[in-house]
Amino acid sequence: SNSIKLAILGLGTVGTGVINLINDNLDELKRRSGRDIIITEVGTRRQRDDIDTSIMQNSDLMAIAASDNVDIVIEVIGGTTLAKDVIMQAIKNGKHVVTANKALLAEHGNEIFAFAEENNVHVAYEAAVAGGIPIIKVMREALAANKVDWLAGIINGTGNFIMTEMRDKGRPFADVLEEAQELGYAEADPTFDVEGIDAAHKLALLASIAFGIPLQFDKVYCEGITGITLQDVNYAEELGYRIKHLGFAVRRDGQGNSDDAGVELRVHPTLIPQDALLANVNGVKNAVLVNSHPLGQTLYCGDGAGAGATASAVMADVMDLVRVLGSKSGDEQNSSEQNNRGHHVPHLAFI
Ligand code: HSE
Repeated sequence: SNSIKLAILGLGTVGTGVINLINDNLDELKRRSGRDIIITEVGTRRQRDDIDTSIMQNSDLMAIAASDNVDIVIEVIGGTTLAKDVIMQAIKNGKHVVTANKALLAEHGNEIFAFAEENNVHVAYEAAVAGGIPIIKVMREALAANKVDWLAGIINGTGNFIMTEMRDKGRPFADVLEEAQELGYAEADPTFDVEGIDAAHKLALLASIAFGIPLQFDKVYCEGITGITLQDVNYAEELGYRIKHLGFAVRRDGQGNSDDAGVELRVHPTLIPQDALLANVNGVKNAVLVNSHPLGQTLYCGDGAGAGATASAVMADVMDLVRVLGSKSGDEQNSSEQNNRGHHVPHLAFI
């Protein structure tokens, strides 16, 4: 058939953002993919009467992940327990998976990606790192042939929003964090944001692709922003600096001792000069600066959290997978139409 059937698992900020995006851009999605994108299942543990999903909300997530009526499973439940079970179930049943779950991938990604490869399906996760910025696609595609020397980035939107509001308006930390939660920026458990854990998850994912190494979340040095006071912020400004919470992944050559060679991974507050590019990335924006050979420095910037930005990244992965599914379709007429429409060959790869 000409339709692509989606299951959305999870009706939090991201799940509702995905439903809204599909409703808003339905014609655009069809025009650009040549397929009808339809939601056939909405899975949620708790019924949400305040959200119009048009189809019935189903609480049997494991059944949805195995359903014949689904081509792509979108996992936006969060957490590392049920989310993992439904993803493994989907993979086992030959479904492609799109997930925004950085905690799950940082901790269990090696196992999940291996299982996906065995079952010949894709697990796409653009939305897991830096919200709407296509940094996974950049690493995997645009920089695929570069040798990355280092990358540095603001990769937690909530933290950057807090630091920005403290600096610009002198607002207290707790007050801004509460607003970040209301705006749908923060994690369900916001200690992940303010303790640097969320940034460490994302850094592990980024480094894995950028350097072609296994995921090593447990190796990331992790420090958050909870110790930073208004006074620290103001002193930094007086001295011509700015405090930003950054993640760094740096290639180390071991200085003659190859046993020490590797990639250094760390997230922590950093003093940077006010005229540095990263010092001027404010609010919920994220930015990743990459130095690679032979390209040199490139900077990627945009909204790093929130329903719209995250849904944009989730659906970008869905659109990639639609091309993959299209090219596998037995319908000759349809697949030649696909090839004319897509200006590039799909090249999702496994890490
Ligand atoms: N809580 C995350 C952030 C959401 O603030 O960056 C996007 O991953």
